[in-house]
Amino acid sequence: MVLKNKNILIGVTVGIAAYKAAELVSTLRKMNANVRVIMTKSAAEFVTPVTFQTLSGFPVRHELFTDWSKNFIPHIENALWADAVAIVPATANIIGKIAHGIADDLLSTTIMACEAPVLFAPAMNERMFKNPIVQRNIRTLKDLGYYFIEPAEGRLACGEVGKGRLPEIDTILWHLEYVLSKKDFAGIRVLVTAGGTREPIDPVRFISNRSSGKMGYELAEALSKRGAEVVLISAPTELEAPYGVELVKVETAQEMYKACMERFDGVNMVIMCAAVADFEPADYSREKIKKDSGFENIKLKRTPDILSEMGRLKSQQFIIGFCAESQNLEENAERKLKEKNLDLIVANDITKNIFGSDTTSIIILDASNNKLKYDGVSKKEAAHIILDAAVKGYRRRMGLEA
Ligand code: CTP
Repeated sequence: MVLKNKNILIGVTVGIAAYKAAELVSTLRKMNANVRVIMTKSAAEFVTPVTFQTLSGFPVRHELFTDWSKNFIPHIENALWADAVAIVPATANIIGKIAHGIADDLLSTTIMACEAPVLFAPAMNERMFKNPIVQRNIRTLKDLGYYFIEPAEGRLACGEVGKGRLPEIDTILWHLEYVLSKKDFAGIRVLVTAGGTREPIDPVRFISNRSSGKMGYELAEALSKRGAEVVLISAPTELEAPYGVELVKVETAQEMYKACMERFDGVNMVIMCAAVADFEPADYSREKIKKDSGFENIKLKRTPDILSEMGRLKSQQFIIGFCAESQNLEENAERKLKEKNLDLIVANDITKNIFGSDTTSIIILDASNNKLKYDGVSKKEAAHIILDAAVKGYRRRMGLEA
């Protein structure tokens, strides 16, 4: 979503990983980003410019002095065009050149002329990467606001094993989305919960619900791209932890309660998206219960209401609850907002088949009775809509916005 219709300039420098840049260009095009590629002269020895030209749909150059006849000054035009630049792979040479203000080919002059964010994805032999000169150059560039992706560990082109590989395409895409996202959550520490808790009956059976965890994971991912420090407390799901997020795995409502309470004092915001089971078996059976030994007599007891407890204890924390209903959605949401002492509540109409789906329908309510309604939006979009409302409310509460 972040990359759609964005102008992404890919700089390709030499290295065996240059072929992965071709995959990156192709993926970006599939995501409806506009892509242009500039190669260094040596990179063109590894992968032909025609490959990138075909994938990007735009002529690929490395010379500084071409096309000027048509008033097209490539380094300036490309620098102005780009919403973000990614150097994939980035050699020690290009890092060193930019860190020292050397601009002697199309790529380095373009970076020098560019005011858009620039992301370097270094890939080289581990000893080269760890060389104090390279490390000092990286530090210099980071201090100047350039972005870097840590190389991955693994087998390197030279046959050695170490830290120096170009990371996976998904990781590069995550970083590109990160550099393009507004950082309106910078300095805000957020606790997010996700998934449906499981309350064990015996070693094989449990009580749970249909939550997939998708909404909570989308929120955690969007938060981390928007600069928040995120701790995600998750009940079991089939999802992968979003990049850059601290993941704490729990199973039961009691475990989620404990994990939340341990971290509550240290956070500025809570987004309680988990579907916490309201009941747990009163007596856990260590042995598997046999089917003829009275399942109908399983007694249940209430689990702690984590959100109510946080609403009771809150000081500076901005607290957002969720509410899943099959009837009287708005009335129930308004009631829960007040009863649980929340700042915002996100109401879901569960008759709209939201469980496990990639789309959702939400109503966001605040304590002043402002309402925002969205029907049939993707959970990714919903995450950003919820965060827009959350950061606005948070900033107002902190006296940073009227
Ligand atoms: N919640 C919680 N602890 C519980 C139950 C719910 O923290 N034991 C939180 C959920 O994460 C959600 C909010 O409370 O953010 C509302 O959950 P919901 O299931 O809609 O409502 P309940 O409070 O459980 O009330 P009811 O089941 O009567 O609708």
